[in-house]
Amino acid sequence: MTEQKPEQSNTNDQNLDRLKNMESDDLIGKYFQTTYQPPNLKKAKKRLKKDVDIHYDYDIPEEMKGIGKGKKYLIRTYGCQMNEHDTEVMAGLLTDMGYESTSVAKEADIILLNTCAIRENAENKVFGELGHMKSLKVENPDLILGVCGCMSQEESVVNRILKKHPFVDMIFGTHNIHRLPSLVKEAMFSKAMVVEVWSKEGDIIENLPKARKGNIKAWVNIMYGCDKFCTYCIVPYTRGKERSRLPEDIIEEVRHLAANGYKEITLLGQNVNAYGKDLEFNYGLGDLMEELSKIDIPRIRFTTSHPRDFDDRLIEVLAQGGNLLDHIHLPVQSGSSDVLRIMARRYTREDYLELVRKIREAMPNATLTTDIIVGFPNETDEQFEETMTLIEEVGFESAFTFIYSPRDGTPAAKWEDNIPMDVKKERLQRLNKLVNAQSKEAMDAYVGEVVDVLVEGESKKDPDVLSGHTERNKLVNFKAPKSLIGQIVPVKIHTAKTWSLDGDLVTDTVEV
Ligand code: 5AD
Ligand code: SF4
Repeated sequence: MTEQKPEQSNTNDQNLDRLKNMESDDLIGKYFQTTYQPPNLKKAKKRLKKDVDIHYDYDIPEEMKGIGKGKKYLIRTYGCQMNEHDTEVMAGLLTDMGYESTSVAKEADIILLNTCAIRENAENKVFGELGHMKSLKVENPDLILGVCGCMSQEESVVNRILKKHPFVDMIFGTHNIHRLPSLVKEAMFSKAMVVEVWSKEGDIIENLPKARKGNIKAWVNIMYGCDKFCTYCIVPYTRGKERSRLPEDIIEEVRHLAANGYKEITLLGQNVNAYGKDLEFNYGLGDLMEELSKIDIPRIRFTTSHPRDFDDRLIEVLAQGGNLLDHIHLPVQSGSSDVLRIMARRYTREDYLELVRKIREAMPNATLTTDIIVGFPNETDEQFEETMTLIEEVGFESAFTFIYSPRDGTPAAKWEDNIPMDVKKERLQRLNKLVNAQSKEAMDAYVGEVVDVLVEGESKKDPDVLSGHTERNKLVNFKAPKSLIGQIVPVKIHTAKTWSLDGDLVTDTVEV
């Protein structure tokens, strides 16, 4: 018998005690670690001059290696690509601890909710999911349930979980991901809810393991955090200050992915084209992409750019083409200079249009997509119309559109959220109609054309159909043998829909 057995059944009893008591209101402080430090958005806002520490010596604590043998984990991911990629890191850590992945919640010994705080509805989804998790925990008190990601960085969220969801075993923040093995250990053997959220600016941990989803496309984080502090946005508080990885570390990672047969990488950063601004030498995203373009990988994308940081050097390098794709996601947020000023976006409508002109001059075929917020405090009908005309003028091929959602701790949350919901919804509907029409128009232009498609797998709707994306990120469905998965193949488009294209494989150039 191992020494752990009695401990585990002890934990079991303690967990059951906790569960029995979990309706009680005075749980904070009674069951939870006295060392608990709440996350602090004000502290998270501080941008000190302290150097970012880069760590290369990460290792799983010896006693945690193999602790997950015969056990399974499930990670539910909400929100952006950054979260998707963090999930791959946590999956890597759990795999190194011996855990295997499962998609069945009832089978899981560890469930992590990797959360998003960007809008209220994203948070509501997580609280809804936590409600469901309670029954799993009652069925299996040894289940370790963790909440991580951006919501964990908010004090109000942590307090709500402590109060209303005491069956949660651990809460950890975006700066604490590398601590997962130790936190799992604490959660296994402690009666208390383990809460570890650092409201610091953030370091860089280089050598964390990653269990990547798939072997065709990969995310590569090139920088972390955001210093822009747009007045509506919680991200600079939850993700810490802008900090860039060293070029040599990124280049090595991309080389490694190329050597392992990956066909496409997406360079990730909350504000990806601020890359390099914090480095001690003069080096930006354009310089990095020029170096990466020499690596033998067919496709390189990057997201998400801020218009203010989109410099001439980046445009010049992207215009060289090759494996650098000219699909540019460039959130504009609003078409009104007055709204942009209050959003603290640091550009005007005219600045944005001038940037688009420069991009199109250098890359006449570039695809532009964007993000828009409607119903920002005080947004007038006229200001909203300016957004509509901007969308037409730029000719965005698609857009993510959002109703403004006040986020506690941000400057905009202190202003009255004074646009009635029915007005917000009507604006969103009109906007979506326009965006959909533009998307359909762009799709129609592909009918009869042959496009190169990176075949990613079976279509979600029909296993007999394969699907993949073009260089300009259009989803294409077509019938072809599964042996083509992972290859880039020519497809002739015969039908355009709003969000996807249907076509036929051009067989004379492809070995099937
Ligand atoms: N309300 C609505 N949308 C928001 N976004 C960021 N913060 C908010 C908010 N408080 C949108 C922006 C951003 C995208 C990722 O989410 O458009 O570009
Ligand atoms: Fe948020 Fe603005 Fe930073 Fe984008 S640039 S993450 S919208 S603060």
